Amino acid sequence: MALEPLKPKIARLISESTTLEDTLLAVCRLLKSQVPHYDWVGFYFKNGKKKELKLGPYAGAPTDHSIIPFGKGICGQVAVSNQNFVVPDVKAQDNYIACSISVKSEIVIPIFVSGENVGQIDIDSNTLDPFTPSDEEFLEFVCAQVATLL
Ligand code: SME
Repeated sequence: MALEPLKPKIARLISESTTLEDTLLAVCRLLKSQVPHYDWVGFYFKNGKKKELKLGPYAGAPTDHSIIPFGKGICGQVAVSNQNFVVPDVKAQDNYIACSISVKSEIVIPIFVSGENVGQIDIDSNTLDPFTPSDEEFLEFVCAQVATLL
């Protein structure tokens, strides 16, 4: 899957940004529709001063997990570790919050503003072990672009 051609499309969405909400939703929809192994794409952001994440715009099936405490699940762990988290097989994870039984793998990349971890992009896949270093590099680009709006 060639992710490189999507970079200018992401950059255009960011540069033509109207509201933050609409732009992030457009990013989610673009990624979900263009990358076959991205089945759920969403943003979580730090909820004010609370030690929890709050669900932002997303594309895919609705989730019950609109609030995730720091440390819980893959997302909550990334809020604390400040590092990318690639999960080739969610069944192998103890600290995992299931959103749908069809999900087999997940990738979470943090978003930094002035060095602070303010949120993340979370992607679920219905394919086992689909993520490569190219996904990480591409999603770091997406997060850096999004950070310019925050
Ligand atoms: N699986 C995530 C929860 C969020 S859903 O994937 C939308 C986790 O373990 O943190």
